[in-house]
Amino acid sequence: MFLQRSTLQVLSFAAVALCFSVEPPAVGGQTFPSSGDTVPNSWTGPVFKLRQDYPKIKPAVGTKPWKSFNFKTQPVPYLQSVLSYCKEGNVEVDWQLEKNTVRNWYHAPWLHTTPNGREFVHGLTGERSSRPHELDPAQTGSFANWAVGFYNAPGGYVIGQVWKDPNAPNPSAVLFPDGTVTCKLLFTTAPVAQVPYLKNSFEWQANASASSGGPRSIQTVRLLQVDVAVRDSRANTTTGWVFGTFVYDGNAAGATPWDRLVPVGLMWGNDPAVTEPTKTPTTHLAETFINPAVGPAQHLGRAGRLNGPVDNPKSSCLSCHSTAQWKALSNVLPDASDPMRWFRNIKATEAFDPGPGQHSLGYSLQIALGLERFHTAHPSQLTETIAPAAAPPSKKTKPISRGDEDDN
Ligand code: HEC
Repeated sequence: MFLQRSTLQVLSFAAVALCFSVEPPAVGGQTFPSSGDTVPNSWTGPVFKLRQDYPKIKPAVGTKPWKSFNFKTQPVPYLQSVLSYCKEGNVEVDWQLEKNTVRNWYHAPWLHTTPNGREFVHGLTGERSSRPHELDPAQTGSFANWAVGFYNAPGGYVIGQVWKDPNAPNPSAVLFPDGTVTCKLLFTTAPVAQVPYLKNSFEWQANASASSGGPRSIQTVRLLQVDVAVRDSRANTTTGWVFGTFVYDGNAAGATPWDRLVPVGLMWGNDPAVTEPTKTPTTHLAETFINPAVGPAQHLGRAGRLNGPVDNPKSSCLSCHSTAQWKALSNVLPDASDPMRWFRNIKATEAFDPGPGQHSLGYSLQIALGLERFHTAHPSQLTETIAPAAAPPSKKTKPISRGDEDDN
């Protein structure tokens, strides 16, 4: 009896200790840390707060202004309506989502670790650096890019379901409904002297590094690109998603920097039949629209598919995002040996590498990255549900990222 009791006590102490060791301490009522940085005492500027009061009950999707437009035949008005939706109520509060009075938006957790993790001023995470001449012919240096993304309420609900138990995330909870929207602001450390079309751009101070993974300091970053992604059932026969991007053009008309964002294009499929690595112009693509009226030099992906100024030319928006699954078995970027595997039209609920125990993460790379970082920090939490013999072989050699220093 006594023995039993003490064993139980030991076990419960162990459980408490385990619980403390895996659960991040709640800071100011927040379960998930906003940033991995320590805010300096001398700092008087804004401090990023991860919006994490995810809806507990499936929210109504609300108005979907983009549904007035056909993304295939009216791509520019479609993109503009999504951008307005993202900006509404957010520009006024400097993108402090918790202060938006028009609409609820949420951040994905677990992007705070690693040298590219969320910085403390605006929650930016390190992205692929822009090599010399990538942003402009006059650019001689390499410059780091930093970004922050967020989801509307239907997306926030899904994030909340995945992370309902902060110590045991549930990848099978990912099912984004029609009307889910996610937007991402990308900033560059490149100065105007190197990239002239960045003149009069929107600027933030951020605790950023000038190169990926390098030491961080407070410095000026400039808005370069805005990404949007919409779960749109009209794209269900290809991928279920419409991905689009905007580039800042200081020479464009518009009263504020937000009005000088020019649509680069959108895509709703990967054009699996187009197998050539390069081909221009882009009229051969049936599932990508590229805006012929873009000012700054275009930075397109494989054979002219859509990607943004900071992106890897071997890829495309939907190509990278189609790899989002738990447990990721393939790299985000295409393998040279079999690149067209990354240009299939994977359905919104389908895993890139199907197999027992595999879950599609519905094109969400922030959920994929969050799960990867959580399990890297808590290896003991990783309950292997897949029998090694039944699991498809993993070809994943790199962590999930938008690209790193050696991806070229
Ligand atoms: C090289 C791979 C890659 C390419 C190309 C890429 N992305 Fe992503 N994207 C990522 C990764 C990794 C994340 C998650 C980490 C982050 O937010 O920085 C992400 C995050 C996002 C998010 C936040 C939502 C989420 O959870 O996925 C949006 C929106 C987004 N990307 C849109 C785009 C658009 C639009 C394009 C094309 C213009 C694009 N991406 C091209 C890798 C890529």
